[in-house]
Amino acid sequence: MQDPQRKRLHIQEVSVRDGFQIEPVFVPTDRKVELINGLSRTGLAKIEVTSFTSPKAIPALADAEAVMQRIDRVPGVEYTALVPNLRGAKRALGSGVDELNLVMSASETHNLANLRMTPNQSLAQFAEIVEATEGRAHINASLSTAFGCPFDGEVPQGAVLALVDRIAGMDIDRVTLCDTTGMANPWQVEQLCRAVREGWPHLTLTAHFHDTRSMGLANVLAALEAGIDRFDASLGGLGGCPFAPGASGNICTEDLVHMLDAMGYETSVDLMALLHLARGLPSIVGHEVPGQVMKAGPSTRRYPVPDGVRQRGPQQCLVGFHKEGR
Ligand code: COA
Ligand code: ZN
Repeated sequence: MQDPQRKRLHIQEVSVRDGFQIEPVFVPTDRKVELINGLSRTGLAKIEVTSFTSPKAIPALADAEAVMQRIDRVPGVEYTALVPNLRGAKRALGSGVDELNLVMSASETHNLANLRMTPNQSLAQFAEIVEATEGRAHINASLSTAFGCPFDGEVPQGAVLALVDRIAGMDIDRVTLCDTTGMANPWQVEQLCRAVREGWPHLTLTAHFHDTRSMGLANVLAALEAGIDRFDASLGGLGGCPFAPGASGNICTEDLVHMLDAMGYETSVDLMALLHLARGLPSIVGHEVPGQVMKAGPSTRRYPVPDGVRQRGPQQCLVGFHKEGR
């Protein structure tokens, strides 16, 4: 493993888009705005504010324009939004996003289920969007199911690389590799991330993992080994695609920042501020959330030593705990 040596990493928050899109209860606009404003002040590099999708497909984010209009725009934070088609791109540009996050799947069936388009139709939309954008915003292309599809199964690396090539050929210089339903394993992650970095070194690459099968943070380490320095993550570990069976939460932002801080990476994110916001999430979404560090506290947490532990000495102390454990 490489020495972190305070290497700068960029943490990009997706809870208000990937997280809220799958929540059964509509989070009121005011509460979305309040959370985004809080997140904006934690040192995150980018926030995916919402998606400009069909309100019939994603009713939870039907207030996209209102959210974009009402949030504080903190300097140094990029505000992005997910865009499925040209209509969504026009809405996003009208709302003044810094970046359009275009989405399509690397597998045909998930693209049809999620966007009702074939991958080629999505690519055609991408080309139209690039033209219509006229440089007014950055463009990122997110490739869903890049590490496996819940319908089609294995997605060959060659198929992903061919899509990256088509996207790079449209002068899109930002790409996110998404593990939509947590199928990726660390070996596969390192191989694919390395191949994309070597093939298209000018691309700004992001890794987007879901922790559906508890491989999320292991996949982050594998991506780091391959030189990735940007990660999407979701406060509290919320998240999931409503059109992917078995989808569950993204890797948890505060758990990710906690791990990276402990390893000696530089994230610029205020972990305590994130934990404070994460602890408010259950009252927003109405249920417990998967995050671990918000429950355990950071590993720097220290507990008061129980009475008598130091006085008893090592031998007696062991006996004491043994007895208490019975
Ligand atoms: N914003 C708002 N409305 C949109 C829209 C957009 N970007 N794109 C299409 N619509 C509207 C159409 O006007 C139409 O409305 P109507 O029924 O009132 O006439 C309706 O949505 C259907 O339009 P159509 O072009 O037939 O699209 P579709 O039904 O095939 O849906 C998508 C295509 C892409 C718009 C839709 O599947 C979608 O929004 N998917 C998003 C999926 C997603 O976000 N998944 C999670 C993230 S991975
Ligand atoms: Zn996702």
